[in-house]
Amino acid sequence: MMQDDQKERVGKAAAELVRKDMTIGLGTGSTAAFFIKALAEKSLNPRCVATSEATAALATSLGLDVVGLENVKKVDLTVDGVDEVDSDLNAIKGGGGALMREKIVASISEMVVYIGDSSKLKTKLGAFPLPIEVSPFASPAIQRKILDLGATAEIRLNGEMPFVSDEGHWIIDAAFNEIEDPYELDVLLNMTPGIVAHGLFIDLIDKMMIARADSIEELVQN
Ligand code: 5RP
Repeated sequence: MMQDDQKERVGKAAAELVRKDMTIGLGTGSTAAFFIKALAEKSLNPRCVATSEATAALATSLGLDVVGLENVKKVDLTVDGVDEVDSDLNAIKGGGGALMREKIVASISEMVVYIGDSSKLKTKLGAFPLPIEVSPFASPAIQRKILDLGATAEIRLNGEMPFVSDEGHWIIDAAFNEIEDPYELDVLLNMTPGIVAHGLFIDLIDKMMIARADSIEELVQN
């Protein structure tokens, strides 16, 4: 599949950024998994922090050294995937439900590099439903608030039950179609009690690597 080929190439290209003795933040999802596999093959033995239980299990199974945040002073480089990214390098993440840990790890990283196939680059964010992680208690009130904003607000399911994040919360997927002002929405969601994290990643990405048919395009934060 063309997208898998692009994901693999960009995952391998990102692994070239890793140097000896770095502490690496490992993202979550199918694109990040290609990076993790390429990293494991490089024999650099970096210390890693994982953005999800699934990533921790994958990385450990490949022989990488995964430690908790209590064991690292800082993260040198985090590599993760995106659901959508725009030309300002703002992104929607959390399709895999790992948004809270992904944002925490990005926020303590010296260098944040996100990777994706060419389908992830958008003129405007919002076609991909925005994951909003909430306290289960608050979820009905948050759903009403999101509906008032003009988006849909579906509680993510795992079978017939709500999906529960690694942090023990529920996720509301909010389809905005087009997010006119990601900065304004970020502030509004940050200010809402009961929302513990959301998938708008604003001003967090230093470099975006996008796989094209036969090259890797790099977009860098100014
Ligand atoms: C997980 C994420 C992923 O990085 C995002 O969903 C992209 O996944 P994929 O690389 O499988 O397309 O944010 O919470």
